[in-house]
Amino acid sequence: MTTTRDWNGRSYDRISEFMEQLGRDVLDRLVLTGDETVLDAGCGTGRVTQALIERLPRGHVIGVDGSADMIAVAAERLPEETELHVQDLCELDVGRQVDAILSTATFHWIADHDRLFAALHTALKPGGRLVAQCGGVGNVDAVHAAAAQVGARGPYREHLAGWRGPWNFSTPADAERRLRAAGFTDVSAWVTERPARPEEPLEYLSTIVLGAHLERLPAALRDAFVDDVATALRGEDGHVTIDYVRLNLDAAKRPPSGSPSARGGH
Ligand SMILES: C[S@@+](CC[C@H](N)C(=O)[O-])C[C@H]1O[C@@H](n2cnc3c(N)ncnc32)[C@H](O)[C@@H]1O
Repeated sequence: MTTTRDWNGRSYDRISEFMEQLGRDVLDRLVLTGDETVLDAGCGTGRVTQALIERLPRGHVIGVDGSADMIAVAAERLPEETELHVQDLCELDVGRQVDAILSTATFHWIADHDRLFAALHTALKPGGRLVAQCGGVGNVDAVHAAAAQVGARGPYREHLAGWRGPWNFSTPADAERRLRAAGFTDVSAWVTERPARPEEPLEYLSTIVLGAHLERLPAALRDAFVDDVATALRGEDGHVTIDYVRLNLDAAKRPPSGSPSARGGH
C-alpha cells in the first residue's frame, strides 16, 4: 500500500456511483480525438477509467493507484489491454510520457501537492493536459465537524481527540500557484459544491469519507462510531448529506518551442 489509508476495493466499487457521476463530468472537460494515451491518476476500481476507455477507441489507457486492493478490482472490470500500476503518484513512473492525465477524487488524499504536481508534469508530453478534480477547501466540513464532535467523547476520545487527518483540501489560489511552480501553464482552478445523499450512508461513510478515522479506532468501536456520526449528520428528513466541495484543476504542459500553440495560442 502506498496511500495514506487503506481502501476496500469491493465496497468502493459497489457504492461509488456518485463518485462516478462526478468523474464523468470531469472527463467531459477533457477534449479527446480518440487516439491518445491517457493516464488515470488514482484510478481506484476503474469506474471512471472505463468511461475514459470508451472515449479512446484507438487510444491507450494507463491506470495508476496506490492501493493494490483497488487495482485488483479495476483489473477485473477493465479490458485486458488496460495497463494498470500500483504506484504512489508522488513517484509516478510508467516508462513514457502521456498525452493527458485525468484524475478524480484523489489529490486531497495526498499531502504534498508540490511533489505530486511535479511528478504529473514529468509524466506528460510537452503540450499535454491535466484535467482533475478532488476535494477542495471546505470539502466535507460538516462530516468532519460531526466526526470531531463524536470523536472527542466516550471511548473514541483516546484514539481521535486532536487528530487532524491526512487530507489536503486546497484553495484554488494555492493549487494554481503550486501547479505553476511545477511548470504547468494555462492553469485554472475553481471550486464547485456537489452535495451527495448516499443511499447506503453507513457503508458510504465507512468506506469513503471516514475510512481514515476508522483506521485509528479498534475494530470493536468502528461500527458504533459510524452510527454515531451518521446520527449527528441526519437531517429532519432522515437523510445523511455529504457536503462535497470539489476543486477542479485544468492545466497544460508547455508545448515544444516552434509549435503553433507555443507561439501564442492556447
Ligand atoms: C476516492 S478514490 C477515487 C477513485 C476514482 N478515481 C474515482 O473517482 O472513483 C481515491 C483513490 O486515490 C488513491 N490514492 C490516494 N493516495 C494515493 C497516492 N499517493 N498514490 C496513488 N493513489 C493514491 C486511493 O488508493 C484511491 O483509490
